Amino acid sequence: MLLTLPRLAAVALFGIDIANAAFSVATVDDIKRTAADIAWDMMQYYKGNLTGQTPGILPGPPPAGDYYWWEAGAMWGTLIDYWRFTGDDSYNDVITQALLWQVGPGQDFMPPNVTASLGNDDQGFWGMTAMTAAENNFPDPPDDQPQWLGLAQAVFNTQAHPDRHDTTCGGGLRWQIFSINNGYDYKNSIANGCFFNLGARLARYTGNQTYADWAEKTWDWMRGVGLMDDDWNIHDGAHVQKNCTDVAGAQFSYNFGVFTLGAAHMYNYTESQVWKDRLDNLVNATLVRFFPEKIAYEPACEDTMGCTTDMLSFKGYVHRWLSFVTQVAPHTASTILPVLKVSAEAAIQSCTGEANGRTCGFNWRKKKYDGSHGVGQQMNALGAVSALLIDQPGKAPVTNSTGGTSKGNPSAGSNSEDFMHSKPLTTADRAGAGIVTFFLAASALGTFAWMGLGK
Ligand SMILES: *[C@@H]1O[C@H](CO)[C@@H](O)[C@H](O)[C@H]1NC(C)=O
Ligand SMILES: *[C@@H]1O[C@H](CO)[C@@H](O)[C@H](O)[C@H]1NC(C)=O
Ligand SMILES: *[C@@H]1O[C@H](CO)[C@@H](O)[C@H](O)[C@H]1NC(C)=O
Ligand SMILES: *[C@@H]1O[C@H](CO)[C@@H](O)[C@H](O)[C@H]1NC(C)=O
Ligand SMILES: *[C@@H]1O[C@H](CO)[C@@H](O)[C@H](O)[C@H]1NC(C)=O
Ligand SMILES: *[C@@H]1O[C@H](CO)[C@@H](O)[C@H](O)[C@H]1NC(C)=O
Ligand SMILES: *[C@@H]1O[C@H](CO)[C@@H](O)[C@H](O)[C@H]1NC(C)=O
Repeated sequence: MLLTLPRLAAVALFGIDIANAAFSVATVDDIKRTAADIAWDMMQYYKGNLTGQTPGILPGPPPAGDYYWWEAGAMWGTLIDYWRFTGDDSYNDVITQALLWQVGPGQDFMPPNVTASLGNDDQGFWGMTAMTAAENNFPDPPDDQPQWLGLAQAVFNTQAHPDRHDTTCGGGLRWQIFSINNGYDYKNSIANGCFFNLGARLARYTGNQTYADWAEKTWDWMRGVGLMDDDWNIHDGAHVQKNCTDVAGAQFSYNFGVFTLGAAHMYNYTESQVWKDRLDNLVNATLVRFFPEKIAYEPACEDTMGCTTDMLSFKGYVHRWLSFVTQVAPHTASTILPVLKVSAEAAIQSCTGEANGRTCGFNWRKKKYDGSHGVGQQMNALGAVSALLIDQPGKAPVTNSTGGTSKGNPSAGSNSEDFMHSKPLTTADRAGAGIVTFFLAASALGTFAWMGLGK
């Protein structure tokens, strides 16, 4: 290549790699152009709108492809944010088709293809995406279709049901929904975090106190069993056989992100000092642990055992959620936004890979492509870059009293299939849809073998 010599010289002289010129986030237009390219590259992984493919899902689950069902739900949320930040509606029809295809017969994001292996966190990610659609007036589906707010309420209601919220460990949600699945005996932070997050957002959106009461209850339970401890650590989970006294596991950035955003909504809803303090401590804890050098980092796996496909997508959610925190709790903006900016700048420096010269990597602190590519890596960079537009005027999320148009249904989800408990599981079902953070961690290194979660 023509550039060989100058490139080496530049690296030697300035410590920079001039191939890192693929993207810029210097101006609003640069951010929009960069986000558009990253989004387009991400969508090359999506085959669901091609003839014969299933709308809504990414290639998978393993071994059929790399991606579990939940990650597609997260991707549609990222693209809804992309649309709201940039105004580019190129993907809106694809997003709507995807979300509506996956609602399932109970209109609660439990489609039969995946229900048998469904975790509360998996369903929760699709529910949070529906909530994002409602909060941003993403174009409403036709009247005869399920509506965004109603879908978020359905997910919430199925999870608040006593079948899911049993009394072991004094409350809380289990990871898995069905008793036959590995992980049913495990109550974990992400399942409860998604429920907390949805409850807090529904409270702010609808003004219905019942949602806030559930969010309080979930918070108190997390603190009570010590999944969230006095030093603002958020541990992965604990087992019902031990009455959740065996709290342990690595700390993951998405747990901090999901609780921080929920706490910001509780502060916005209550305006109480108690929630402000909780929020401020979580913001600090998140930035300290997951943004060393102000650049997003996944300490549980990034420099050590290697991150699983699931873990490779957490940085993007944290960027989007922290940026959203600054809208509902504006006093945090001066702490959060400068960090997100440095991190996003590092993110695009990782986007110089592969044949197209702009594929994004995972380790942003390297400030060059690290050879790791996939949906998660693109989605992380897309979340980080598009969220830089958070402080553009007119982008604040709505509620049902400030212009929100999405129709709700407080009793949505009452036809949920999950209360029938009838479906026999196959091995393929079990391999299915769950976020496999711990199964893979355990089999990869044996590090977490004590958790007794081996498949
Ligand atoms: C599938 O979606 C992509 C956008 O990601 C779009 O460019 C393409 O035209 C769509 N294909 C079909 C067959 O709808
Ligand atoms: C379920 O799987 C079948 C077979 O792959 C597919 O045709 C169908 O669209 C899927 N349904 C959903 C809701 O994903
Ligand atoms: C089980 O844990 C819950 C929550 O920490 C606690 O309230 C309850 O007393 C415990 N039960 C027993 C039998 O230890
Ligand atoms: C907002 O939602 C709440 C709870 O569902 C309802 O009581 C209230 O009437 C709604 N407000 C508006 C303006 O639609
Ligand atoms: C932020 O968190 C760190 C580490 O947990 C702690 O040492 C520090 O005191 C916290 N700062 C504030 C302002 O809360
Ligand atoms: C609640 O959110 C709105 C934006 O939707 C913001 O203007 C307001 O300042 C927030 N309230 C508090 C207490 O931060
Ligand atoms: C508030 O939410 C609860 C829980 O979903 C529901 O039972 C109740 O009907 C809702 N109230 C209103 C006024 O919408």
